[in-house]
Amino acid sequence: MAAWRRIGTACCVALGVLAGSLTAGAADVARPFGLDPAVERRIDDLLARMTLAEKIGQLRQGGWSPDFDLGQASRGEIGSLTNAEDPHETARIQKAARSSRLGIPILLADNVIHGFRTLFPVPIALAASFEPDLVEEASAWAGREAHAAGLHWTLAPMVDLTRDPRWGRVVEGPGEDPVLGAAMAAAQVRGFLKGGIMASLKHYAGYGAAEAGRDYNTTEISPGTMRDIYLPAFRAGVEAGSQSVMAAFNALNGTPATANPWTLQTILKGEWGFDGFVISDWDSVWELMNHGHAGSPAEAARRAMLAGLDVEMAGDMFKENLADEVAAGRIPPARIDDAVRRVLRVKFRMGLFDRPDPDPAAAEAQMLTPAAREAAKAAAIASFVLLKNDRDLLPLAPRGKRIALIGGIAASPADHMGSWGANGRQDDAVTLATALTAKAAAGGFTVTTAAGCDPACRSEEGFAEAVAAARSADMVVVALGEPWWMTAEGTSRTQLGLPNRQQALLEAVAATGKPVVLVVFGGRPMTIGWAAEHVPAILYAWSPGTMGGAALAEVLLGEAAPTGRLPMTMPRAVGQIPLYYNHLPTGRPPTGDHYSSKYIDEEVTPLFPFGYGLTYTRFAYADLRLAEHVLKPGDSVEASVSVTNTGPRAGRETVQLYMRDPVASKSRPVRELKAFRKVSIAPGATERVTFRVPVEAFGFHLDDGRYVVEPGRFEIHVGGSATDTIGTGFEVRN
Ligand code: BGC
Repeated sequence: MAAWRRIGTACCVALGVLAGSLTAGAADVARPFGLDPAVERRIDDLLARMTLAEKIGQLRQGGWSPDFDLGQASRGEIGSLTNAEDPHETARIQKAARSSRLGIPILLADNVIHGFRTLFPVPIALAASFEPDLVEEASAWAGREAHAAGLHWTLAPMVDLTRDPRWGRVVEGPGEDPVLGAAMAAAQVRGFLKGGIMASLKHYAGYGAAEAGRDYNTTEISPGTMRDIYLPAFRAGVEAGSQSVMAAFNALNGTPATANPWTLQTILKGEWGFDGFVISDWDSVWELMNHGHAGSPAEAARRAMLAGLDVEMAGDMFKENLADEVAAGRIPPARIDDAVRRVLRVKFRMGLFDRPDPDPAAAEAQMLTPAAREAAKAAAIASFVLLKNDRDLLPLAPRGKRIALIGGIAASPADHMGSWGANGRQDDAVTLATALTAKAAAGGFTVTTAAGCDPACRSEEGFAEAVAAARSADMVVVALGEPWWMTAEGTSRTQLGLPNRQQALLEAVAATGKPVVLVVFGGRPMTIGWAAEHVPAILYAWSPGTMGGAALAEVLLGEAAPTGRLPMTMPRAVGQIPLYYNHLPTGRPPTGDHYSSKYIDEEVTPLFPFGYGLTYTRFAYADLRLAEHVLKPGDSVEASVSVTNTGPRAGRETVQLYMRDPVASKSRPVRELKAFRKVSIAPGATERVTFRVPVEAFGFHLDDGRYVVEPGRFEIHVGGSATDTIGTGFEVRN
């Protein structure tokens, strides 16, 4: 074992800088907001004039409903409100807040997760683009529309890393990789800010590791793994300027995240210097009693507040208990003042005190603009993952032919829009059925639609009609997968096949012998082993958003090419889960020997690995070279590789750089993504792609929080997925 070299006391790798950068250099952690002494003085002034009740009001977030009592705002009883989306209503609420005794404006929030009125692909799909710039733009559009509606704040992005597709909230996050997750977190935070609203990184922390993939379940994660795997996206989001962080529902190693001093105080506010505020999740202060972490509402409020939680969402624990707790000396008044200061600071930073509110009458004109719709379509195309394409069945060449379009989802706007609809409207959504049919006349082909069953496919009643349509067609497109309501919060699944009778429908259609393209909708990797074996072409489309159908039609017909990559490993069977590419080695690798780490009834390998995805051309990798083979801390590894487009069309390839530390004081993952970049390459052309990654990125955290890069040999692997790579190596010496 090589002696380890101490680099720092906390994570020092700016992951966001590495991801997607051709020549990533030193970490740029300059935050968009600094402490402004003038603002702090204005806060001092307000604090001096506020009653304790008014202070506690700032620490409460209400939930809007049609019978919302405006008096809560005008009496200063709530500092923020979520779920109001109508611009005239948000203006009315803001006016009421400004009429309160001290005129403190209210922060208006909403779950703007993948768009406001123009819905973009769901977050897991955006992550599949492997394009932080594109994701930043998507978030900027969401921000612009939400801001026009009078909102200041989105309860997004969800940056919970997860290795378990049983967990329904997989759809809201960046998947299984910390570097991709950090890049997506920073991109979304920046994009929302660019659009005019602030982010809330959620759910802090470890929520994606819910045991057995069951939502809200407890988590056990070692401190080192927290820092290496689960926290980098949060840190990147904080550094990108997120002004709030939402504590998660789960307990982490026995301490609920809502009242966890280690994550909230020690790491977030201490080590990372976060000076915005922390909000609970929905009523999660009350839930401290269910966790067995508090015996009474007063204890719940006290534990949360003392651990570093600043604002309570939805519940009344703060309202009913904080004043008594302060009077009894169990919560120092300074802690309340600190929490209020954080809320007020953010209100100043977002311009609430000094900038005019948007004109509600001008809002509608800023929704669903042609530019936003184009951006949503481009994002969808970049997010589609082509999993299989035997004999180049795709793109379809249907001139003079008949296409049968089967599957209830194909004509269902809601299932294109996705799980967090915000202010999206079904009438706005372009479905696959509409878009493909619209192209038929000009393309010289016909489209016959036969759903076969409703989107969830609980009955086989329409199967005969669908099979008949397939028989009389030349080619078949089948759209199956998860309807929107099978994804997101509270939708954990124990079986991950195509839902209900969909598999039977697919088999019946495939049995016609016609060439079949399967388009899979949904919010997580599913176990589609049968399809992978029997269906010639599979396109994973996720929930593609308002323009999803238009994007799909273009991709199916070859007007555009899919360029997405899997941000999560796709398992063969639920029994393999958790299955993720950056796992540790075992003492008995799966050699085929009986006493090796394997299953007796299934392969250990995934159906499709992390980073995988095809397009309408092919790429070959060669000549991986490093500028230096011996490096020291402070240096950067410069790796370059030749990527050749060996196919007939121009295309885009996602070049991925992985590393491995084969021998260390702590067992290290078999692969770790460190950088990636999407490049466009002309047919027959070769591009030399160069990455520069600081040596500091090759370390890991010890459980005591120290970050180390150990001298010794490191492997570098570059390729088009986590498993399809070519390799070389270098040495780190002190
Ligand atoms: C979810 C959050 C969401 C909040 C407000 C909670 O149940 O966990 O992600 O932002 O509700 O709608």
